[in-house]
Amino acid sequence: MRGGSPTPEDAAGGCAPLLAPTPDAWVEAALAHPAELLIDHANCEKKAASSALALMFTYPEDRPLVLALARLAREELRHFEQVAKVMTTLGVRFVRQRPGRYARELRAALRTCEPERKLDLLIASALIEARSAERFRLLAPRLSAPLAPLYVDLATAEARHFELYLGFARTVAPEAWHARLSELAALEAELATSPDRTLRFHSGPLAHSGCCAATINYK
Ligand SMILES: [Fe+2]
Ligand SMILES: [Fe+2]
Repeated sequence: MRGGSPTPEDAAGGCAPLLAPTPDAWVEAALAHPAELLIDHANCEKKAASSALALMFTYPEDRPLVLALARLAREELRHFEQVAKVMTTLGVRFVRQRPGRYARELRAALRTCEPERKLDLLIASALIEARSAERFRLLAPRLSAPLAPLYVDLATAEARHFELYLGFARTVAPEAWHARLSELAALEAELATSPDRTLRFHSGPLAHSGCCAATINYK
C-alpha cells in the first residue's frame, strides 16, 4: 500500500487488484450455508462461460481476444461440470436462485459507449475472477474432499483468468486502464464486503435479516 489508501496493486490477501479482503463473516456464513453457496457457485461458472461468449459476439474483430475467450469459456463449462459432479456426490439439488446484488450493481456501473465499454467489461470480468480466486483460496483449507482439492485447482484457474482479462484491458486502453481499474475495484470491494441481504459466492457477509437456506454440510 502506498500512503494511506489502498491501490489496485495492494493485494487483498495476495490477490491483486482487490482493494479489500473478504470479511471473515462471509467465510463463516459460506461454511454455514454450503448448499446455497454450491448452487450459486455452479451458476457462477455458467455465467463466466456466458460472459466470455457474449464478449466474443460483441467484439468479433478482436481475434486474439476471441480466441482466448473461446478457450476460457470451455474451461468455465468444465468447471461447471466439476461442480455439478460434486453436487451429486453431496446430494445437493439444483434450484433456481434469486440473483445477488454483486454482478447487477457492478454491471450497472459500466459505461455504455465504446471504446469505454469494452475496457469496463474486461476490467469487471478481471475483478470477478480475482474475487473468485481469493474466495476459493479462503474456503479450500476449511473444507474436505471432494470440494477442497477442487477449490485449490479453481483458485489457480480463476487467478489465471484474472490475469488474462487484465492483460487485454491494458492492451485496449494503455493509458486509461489503471485509473478505471481503481474506480471499479473500489465499487467491487464495497459490494464484496458490506452487509448483504442474500448470501452468494460474490456477496458481502450476510446481514442480520438476510436470507439463506442450508440443507447439507460440507464435511
Ligand atoms: Fe471457473
Ligand atoms: Fe474464471
